[in-house]
Amino acid sequence: MFRLDGKVVLISGAGRGMGWGIAQTLARQGAKVIINDFYAERAEQAARSLNDSGFQGYFATADMTNREAIFSMVSQILSQHVAIDVFVHNAGIPAQGWKYSQFLDSAPAEWDAWLQLNLHGLMHACQAILPQMIERSWGRIVVINSDASRTATGMGLCAYGAAKAAAIGFIRNLSGEVGRHGVTANALSLGTMNNWEGSEQIARKTASVRRAGSPQDVGAAVTYLASAEAEWVNGQVLAVNGGSLVC
Ligand SMILES: NC(=O)c1ccc[n+]([C@@H]2O[C@H](COP(=O)([O-])OP(=O)(O)OC[C@H]3O[C@@H](n4cnc5c(N)ncnc54)[C@H](O)[C@@H]3O)[C@@H](O)[C@H]2O)c1
Repeated sequence: MFRLDGKVVLISGAGRGMGWGIAQTLARQGAKVIINDFYAERAEQAARSLNDSGFQGYFATADMTNREAIFSMVSQILSQHVAIDVFVHNAGIPAQGWKYSQFLDSAPAEWDAWLQLNLHGLMHACQAILPQMIERSWGRIVVINSDASRTATGMGLCAYGAAKAAAIGFIRNLSGEVGRHGVTANALSLGTMNNWEGSEQIARKTASVRRAGSPQDVGAAVTYLASAEAEWVNGQVLAVNGGSLVC
């Protein structure tokens, strides 16, 4: 079950972190994995590492906030691989730098950075990728989202949480347009993950499964949503958060 043999998967921001975990997991399930990242060396090295382990890895550099760059990347991928069966929009933390600010100290330019990547980047990519999925009556869109869209941490996440909530509104509505064409659109809502300092201590206090989440936890959930077996799951947000938030 949940095999992805022969499927072509594009993952944004997959040069490290959660995206890299998703890439490794999907490659193990038999997918051809195309690693996108803002940083070419990061994407290239990750693809090489997949190949060195005997999997099918490719890389494709593009800034996922740039519509032209996204369309050009997608057209190059389609000329080489014919199809993109699964798109995972994982890039969500700006590569060029960011800071979490208390709302009253934040500037509109910061709000834009989060929205450009989490909402507009996703929408650009969906406009570029969906037509060929619809034409072939098969496709999977999976968005890596965050519990920040529905909590009140007080940690300066207003703009980030708003951008993530916007992406959920988009994906739910999109699911209603593409489901009839054999394409599903779903999201994961991640809790505290283990790739930043202090996350284990926070997760031990907030999650009933007393640890921070790993890239492999995310990869396993994406594998399910990307699989043929999940064809009747559409427009949903699956929490992958160790039980820290249960509704
Ligand atoms: N780490 C957490 O605790 C956590 C919690 C909840 C949700 N998330 C979500 O998980 C996803 C991945 O987070 P992460 O912690 O692995 O991030 P990360 O910063 O470790 O890795 C993200 C990768 O995305 C790339 N990237 C950033 N902007 C890009 C752009 N414009 N175009 C292409 N690539 C770009 C970066 O270069 C980087 O390699 C994000 O959507 C994030 O919001 C993370």
